[in-house]
Amino acid sequence: MRRSRIIGTGSHLPRKVLTNHDLEGMVDTSDEWITTRTGIKERRIVDGEKPSDLATVAALKAIDSSGLEPGNLDLIIVATVTPDMTFPSTACFVQERIGAGKAFAFDVSAACSGFIYALDVADRYIRSGGAEHVLVVGVDVFSRILDWSDRTTCILFGDGAGAVVMKGEEGERGILSTHLHSDGRYWKMLYAPLNGCGQEGVKMQGNETFKVAVRMMEQVSMEALRSNGLRVEDIDLFIPHQANARIIKTTAERLSLPLDRVYMNIERYGNTSAASIPIAMDEAFREGRIRDGHILLLAAFGGGFTWASSVIRW
Ligand code: UT7
Repeated sequence: MRRSRIIGTGSHLPRKVLTNHDLEGMVDTSDEWITTRTGIKERRIVDGEKPSDLATVAALKAIDSSGLEPGNLDLIIVATVTPDMTFPSTACFVQERIGAGKAFAFDVSAACSGFIYALDVADRYIRSGGAEHVLVVGVDVFSRILDWSDRTTCILFGDGAGAVVMKGEEGERGILSTHLHSDGRYWKMLYAPLNGCGQEGVKMQGNETFKVAVRMMEQVSMEALRSNGLRVEDIDLFIPHQANARIIKTTAERLSLPLDRVYMNIERYGNTSAASIPIAMDEAFREGRIRDGHILLLAAFGGGFTWASSVIRW
């Protein structure tokens, strides 16, 4: 059976660190509140870099680890809601910067679920024979669209990029399933107006979003397990979107999944939106927590609302 296998991973975070203590000097908050309510200790913030700058570095690392050359790529998909420009797509900037002359390129917009949405599109291109080698990047620069005077949102997010290279191949390894969902009736709970920044930036009804997020993360994870005939014990590593440590822990608890099989790096990066899962995947792989044959479960939830899951045999 033809499947899409991930053959390379990469990630890139801006160098500038913004700690909870730094935020104490900007809004009425405390390290104690942020740590206990979200699990975040610090996040990375761009210092002039554009989304395509972060995406390009993550992409080159993923391509390098895959053993391919940029010229081998047929397709580039970038998941982002903070593109460099209205157009062209950030994917076109990446295509030019890495020299992937053969690849066609486009962006996917699904907020924090964007990476799994892009993975789904890539998988379908590969399995249908429309592409052989695909680069999927998740990148977001929320620092540009936050209201830095709103303590209910500005403490949550960070900037970053993560990437994977996928290849079509016969066998048992690769993407086993993807499940995507959207419900636009909830859009007002989490949104950013077009070109919004400052007080016109990201708006969120945090508490209500939290409750729906926990419910949908559990549902979409169970849907993924059921459709593959898997039990929770079969999951070697759960890589959830990193929005809030409490959402992740509650989801794990509801799934009866022990925390040593759950990947978390939210304490260092905050919520990097579409970048959080590929950054976590890259770190987990480099730390040796993902090995050949491992079964991974990915799950994400974000603005739209959108939510999604994927099961991968590595
Ligand atoms: O990735 C996309 C999806 N995003 C999410 O899933 C995020 C979902 N939401 C959350 O993670 C949480 O709801 C938050 C972390 C945003 C907030 O945590 P919470 O436990 O839901 O707090 P809350 O909104 O119910 O606020 C509790 C209190 C309020 O004060 P009062 O009304 O009880 O006096 C807030 O004004 O905490 C206050 N508060 C803060 N205090 C200090 C809100 N933000 C802050 C802050 N520092 N930064």
